Amino acid sequence: MIGIYPGTFDPITLGHLDIIKRAKKVVDTLIVAVGNNPSKKTTFDLETRMNMIRDSIGTCKNIEVISFSGLLVDAAKDNGADIIIRGLRAISDYESESQMAIVNRALNPDVDTMILVSGHEYSFISSSLIKEIAIFGGDISEFVPEPVLKQIELAESKKKKG
Ligand code: COA
Repeated sequence: MIGIYPGTFDPITLGHLDIIKRAKKVVDTLIVAVGNNPSKKTTFDLETRMNMIRDSIGTCKNIEVISFSGLLVDAAKDNGADIIIRGLRAISDYESESQMAIVNRALNPDVDTMILVSGHEYSFISSSLIKEIAIFGGDISEFVPEPVLKQIELAESKKKKG
């Protein structure tokens, strides 16, 4: 079975990584699909977001990192994915996740969605929260993988140098 785990990953966090590690036990191949939506302004460009994911995952035979633009169901079809994987952090995620699952199933009934509930230690993490903590000099090492920590530190030091 091929699973596709989509997101913006701006940047990937330990919460996303938790979902990736658990999803890869359920599917034969996991495709981490990075959304490239020009109308969505991101802090990190597509290549940097993909590299941070690759560096965070390390060498793992059954994981692929791809980018996609357009509809997720089309990316799923183009990459032979049988199932979409999403994480659910809290009840507040439920509404948007169920809506997304229903829409995607209406667009392509052959691709269902599997929801994994986030580990409780990651249920409050979001990419923008982490970036905000970093901007104000807070410690984010508990929330992001090492390659992301380095990338954020680099971006912050570049900003300071002006
Ligand atoms: N751990 C940590 N954070 C998590 C998380 C987890 N397990 N799950 C979600 N998040 C956070 C992210 O950090 C992000 O935080 P931010 O808003 O502070 O940046 C937020 O939740 C949402 O991120 P993500 O899960 O990456 O979803 P998204 O809304 O950015 O991306 C797509 C959603 C790309 C999958 C979706 O927009 C899409 O499918 N687009 C293609 C168009 C399409 O097909 N549309 C029709 C279907 S709805």
